[in-house]
Amino acid sequence: MPQNTDHMPGTESAPPFSQAAENNKGPIGDILHHEFRNVKSVLEIASGTGQHAVHMARLLPHLSWRPSDLSENLPGLTLRHTQEAPPNLLEPMLLDIADHPWPVTQVDAVYAANCLHIVSWPLVEAFFKGAGGAIADAGTIAVYGPFRYGGNFTTPSNAEFDAFLRARDAAAGIRDFEAVNELAATQGFQIARDCDMPANNQLLIWRRR
Ligand SMILES: C[S@@+](CC[C@H](N)C(=O)[O-])C[C@H]1O[C@@H](n2cnc3c(N)ncnc32)[C@H](O)[C@@H]1O
Repeated sequence: MPQNTDHMPGTESAPPFSQAAENNKGPIGDILHHEFRNVKSVLEIASGTGQHAVHMARLLPHLSWRPSDLSENLPGLTLRHTQEAPPNLLEPMLLDIADHPWPVTQVDAVYAANCLHIVSWPLVEAFFKGAGGAIADAGTIAVYGPFRYGGNFTTPSNAEFDAFLRARDAAAGIRDFEAVNELAATQGFQIARDCDMPANNQLLIWRRR
């Protein structure tokens, strides 16, 4: 089941830690290593603990990786940056998906993991609008998380996870692939890959040429 109970809060000397992020960063990196081979700059939305940011920046030294999140996550992200950042991992920045235009423009790619099912549908719309603006021209959007297809969950455990999410926040929930794909299309992005990932997740790659 995707992450929800695996989060360890940070302390003054240790950044917060997510076991799920630790588990999925490798399989995601294996695909981004290929998909981001020609990418020079990435903006990560909803970086959380920053574990993906550090892993991807180390794995992809040819590009710069900019982590971002809401203000409450910036102290932990900044602490991880101070302790672990390779030179191509830029300072974490405050970025709320809802606040347009986003403070970063001219990136080649936007990446977000485990975010679209946490936020409300208007914020999912705002995500694609923001990503479409942050990527100057041609570029890539990569999104990791659980999705439904044809109105169906891919597994019973994802249906349970969706019920858990909606009980916690009525505006949250696993999104329909077709609906997010339409939002991507409104920004000129076409689906390039849909990868089955461990723990019933997908890694979706859209490109604008
Ligand atoms: C489940 S966590 C995922 C964190 C990380 N990407 C990962 O996979 O471990 C969801 C993240 O979405 C962020 N988030 C929620 N609402 C947001 C918003 N309006 N703008 C930006 N980030 C937001 C949260 O702060 C949190 O870091």
